[in-house]
Parts: sequence; C-alpha cells; structure tokens
Amino acid sequence: MPTRRQFLAASAASALSAALVHRDLFAAATDAASGALPMVTVYKDPGCECCTRWCKHLSANGFVVQPRDVANVDEIKHTMGVPERLQSCHTAVVGRYVVEGHVPADLVKKMLTEQPQIVGLAAPGMPEGSPGMEGPKKDKYDILTFDRAGKTTVFATRGA
Ligand code: CU
Ligand code: CU
Repeated sequence: MPTRRQFLAASAASALSAALVHRDLFAAATDAASGALPMVTVYKDPGCECCTRWCKHLSANGFVVQPRDVANVDEIKHTMGVPERLQSCHTAVVGRYVVEGHVPADLVKKMLTEQPQIVGLAAPGMPEGSPGMEGPKKDKYDILTFDRAGKTTVFATRGA
C-alpha cells in the first residue's frame, strides 16, 4: 500500500501533467478559435535537405515552424502512429495532428479548419514537384488521411 504521502505526491504529479495537457489543448483550441495557426514541430534527419525546404514552405505560408533534428526519425514515426507504407522523410506535429512528408501547406490549413477525426495527413514517399521537392519533374501524387487503424482516404491529389 502506498503511504498517504506517496499517494498525495503521485496525484499531485498526475494532476500537474493533466494540467499541462489541458493547457496545450486549450492553447490549440484558442489558436483555432482565433484563427491563429498552431506551431508546427518537424522531426527530421539533420542531413536531409528536402525536410528543411518543406519547413521553409510552411514558414512562407504563415506557420511558425520548430525543426527538431533527431537521430532516428523512424522511431518518431512509430510513436506517432504513422503506418509504414505511408512513410516519407520528416514527421511533423501540428495541433493534435500528425503530418507525414511533403504535404502542401494549404492542405494542412484545410485539415486544421475542418478538424476531421483522423490521426493526420501523409504524402507517402518523396513525390517529385511536391513542396520541398521542387524540380523539373512533376509527379502526380495523393495526400492521404490516415486513422489509428491505418485506414486511409484520399484528401487531395496534386501534381501533373
Ligand atoms: Cu523529403
Ligand atoms: Cu527530407
């Protein structure tokens, strides 16, 4: 049996973390209500330049971006629940959503406005011509929603 003191300490700690989560959710809700864009945290490999170019694309479209270099991006993808077949290079978190790969900024905004019941959006692989992958070649590519079960729907199609 925990002592009363241990019990009080444990409940104080969980109340504190619950308060922090609530504060984040409240901040996200306030951002949404005020029309302000929530910050985007981007987990990426330090050596990958297309990720940095995608960060710049988001900044250019009004997002505040917090890049986070990590040694093992796969671990982050796993933690965030990104299905393996949808994986790309970087994995981002915005509000309560996950954004995998070179998803165009306007579609991130659309998701934030519509607030669908999904885990997030993914642009699987590395589509040529997507934001951060600019070049002479333009692939046609789908931006997919995915849920916790790994079920996907086509959110938008872009490119040639
Ligand atoms: Cu990339
Ligand atoms: Cu990259």
